[in-house]
Amino acid sequence: MFKAILIDKADSGQNVALTDIEDERLPAGSVTVRVAYSTLNYKDALAITGKSPIVRSYPMVPGIDFAGVVEHSDDPQYQAGDQVVLNGWGVGEKHWGGLAGKARVDGGWLVPLQAPFTLRQAMGIGTAGYTAMLCVMALERNGVKPESGEVLVTGAAGGVGSVAVAILAKLGYTVAAVTGRPQESDYLKALGAHEILDRAQFSEPGKPLAKERWAGAVDVAGGHVLANVCAAMRYRGTVAACGLAAGMAFPATVAPFILRGVTLAGVDSVMCPRADRLEAWRRLASDLDPAKLDGLTRDIALDGVIAAAGEMVQGRIRGRVIVPVGGD
Ligand SMILES: NC(=O)c1ccc[n+]([C@@H]2O[C@H](COP(=O)([O-])OP(=O)(O)OC[C@H]3O[C@@H](n4cnc5c(N)ncnc54)[C@H](OP(=O)(O)O)[C@@H]3O)[C@@H](O)[C@H]2O)c1
Repeated sequence: MFKAILIDKADSGQNVALTDIEDERLPAGSVTVRVAYSTLNYKDALAITGKSPIVRSYPMVPGIDFAGVVEHSDDPQYQAGDQVVLNGWGVGEKHWGGLAGKARVDGGWLVPLQAPFTLRQAMGIGTAGYTAMLCVMALERNGVKPESGEVLVTGAAGGVGSVAVAILAKLGYTVAAVTGRPQESDYLKALGAHEILDRAQFSEPGKPLAKERWAGAVDVAGGHVLANVCAAMRYRGTVAACGLAAGMAFPATVAPFILRGVTLAGVDSVMCPRADRLEAWRRLASDLDPAKLDGLTRDIALDGVIAAAGEMVQGRIRGRVIVPVGGD
């Protein structure tokens, strides 16, 4: 038996509860992992609250991330005792996920724990942090360098945003952080933000083109926020777009793209190829200051996850949440 959050269909929506599950009910997969730590991502919060149709089949154990120790493996790449990390691949959406004492998955979905991170630190990073790294890599791929000019991070006090600010500042970029929570200004400055901007300046419909300001941007919001960010990009700047915290719509014009040569680089973490994942984790090991990581995480026990999911969809969680499950 192991403890897990379980989402099941109900007449009116869904039931979510912390429950005991027999090992025999684990889904098919080549590797069984004892989960040491999981985490709460925005997508998990949407799944648990039922705010968006994330769950594709019921009953579902949510949790798009886990870090743990291999208990049994039919995959030659892994042996019992190996420390492994999982991010995405539809886990927690269509395959039972990481907010549980055990998980069973395809060995090809796992990556070995990246040194020098601990299992706990890997979940401090989680999909949000690994996506932040993919966004920074997208900016670099498109030629955005620290000397190119200021870069912007939206949703900065959230998970992706906090890690993106910390990485970009460590790499020497001048980072402006957009937040709807001015009370988090000191937190964002401690992560390395040079300037704090009020989200309200970005949330209303704007002009197709604004004064050129940003050489690069990481956007977690979508909606008018993304449209306004694109409008204020410098000539040949790049926006890495990964989220929809402000909405799925993209109410913009093509003006920034055809008149300023702006690149809109889409970032997906779920189906990201293995080589890019391994590269992102290697880069996190070199470009994310562990002290900054400690400053942006907090623990929430498995029995507090359902309440925390409600807070997260309201944008009230700061930084990253670690969910200790079995521990080290
Ligand atoms: N593409 C991918 O593979 C991928 C991977 C990970 C995450 N994501 C997406 O990225 C987004 C952020 O994820 P996360 O884990 O960082 O979530 P999070 O920790 O909940 O942070 C989201 C942040 O967005 C800001 N925000 C909330 N409502 C907003 C609004 N109406 N307008 C503008 N900003 C708003 C808030 O930051 P402030 O309080 O600082 O304003 C909030 O903290 C989500 O949409 C998530 O689904 C995508």
